[in-house]
Amino acid sequence: MEARDDTNKLSSKRLTGKVAVITGGARGIGAATAKLFAENGAHIVIADILDELGAALASTIGGRYIHCDVTKEEDVESAVRLAVSWKGQLDIMFNNAGISGSGGSITSLNMEDVKFLLSVNLNGILHGIKHAAKAMIEGQRKGSIICTSSSAAIMGGLASHAYSLSKEAIIGLARSTACELGKHGIRVNCISPHGVPSEMLVNAYRKYLGKADMKPEEVCKMVRDSGSLLRGRSASIEDVAQAALFLASEEAGFITAHNLVIDGGYTTGTSSMSFIYQ
Ligand SMILES: NC(=O)c1ccc[n+]([C@@H]2O[C@H](COP(=O)([O-])OP(=O)(O)OC[C@H]3O[C@@H](n4cnc5c(N)ncnc54)[C@H](O)[C@@H]3O)[C@@H](O)[C@H]2O)c1
Repeated sequence: MEARDDTNKLSSKRLTGKVAVITGGARGIGAATAKLFAENGAHIVIADILDELGAALASTIGGRYIHCDVTKEEDVESAVRLAVSWKGQLDIMFNNAGISGSGGSITSLNMEDVKFLLSVNLNGILHGIKHAAKAMIEGQRKGSIICTSSSAAIMGGLASHAYSLSKEAIIGLARSTACELGKHGIRVNCISPHGVPSEMLVNAYRKYLGKADMKPEEVCKMVRDSGSLLRGRSASIEDVAQAALFLASEEAGFITAHNLVIDGGYTTGTSSMSFIYQ
């Protein structure tokens, strides 16, 4: 019985032999995706600025770690180079690194803060698409580029002005580059998570609500109670990793220029008028 289970597990690997770079892969959504991709047979390069966490995760999944600040084009180029020199190819680029930045009124927006946020959330993704596309075109093996946007790109009022701006711009950039890269068989898609209790989100809530001891479970509860159409269900890093796995795999072979939203329907509909269905 046990042997049969193992066989099923092996045959269900969806990324066997593929090589992936994951920016922001040291923790949160990126780390969950690195684990899931590795379980599915991929070789992973984790590119992050959290060296200890990133290196430890890379060693547990048989991958490689590289210090990579996505605001620096040469760092992102080096991460892509590492994948190609290590395994001879790059098949998947997951541009996932991001920061929440600060909140506050539009009338007192600090433009230096905005520039910094855009240098991570937007330029970081631009660097990733640019160098992944170059390597994939040279390798002539097609490829999948996935960029992490957000529910805040689709609906106003879910994050700071600068964050919302950066995440909506990512969708435009992914669409535009998908138009150019399709002829090489390179797919470019976005994923848009919502309400995932990562360090980034929980810290942002702590800051905005002035509640330093806020726990991830409290964020989960808010999502469970009022943050999706699926009452009682909160979001997890694994939910997002599964969406990234789908877009990385051959199962999504005819999907490009798409934004896969993982928000329990929150940005699409409301159940506040459910009396209609009584
Ligand atoms: N958590 C959510 O609900 C949510 C919702 C929508 C979008 N997102 C997006 O998901 C992505 C992952 O975030 P998360 O929620 O897992 O948070 P997280 O803070 O746990 O992970 C972000 C990762 O990005 C890395 N990073 C930050 N700046 C970097 C830089 N300059 N260079 C390289 N790496 C850098 C961090 O070190 C960290 O490992 C982000 O792009 C975020 O905007 C998250």
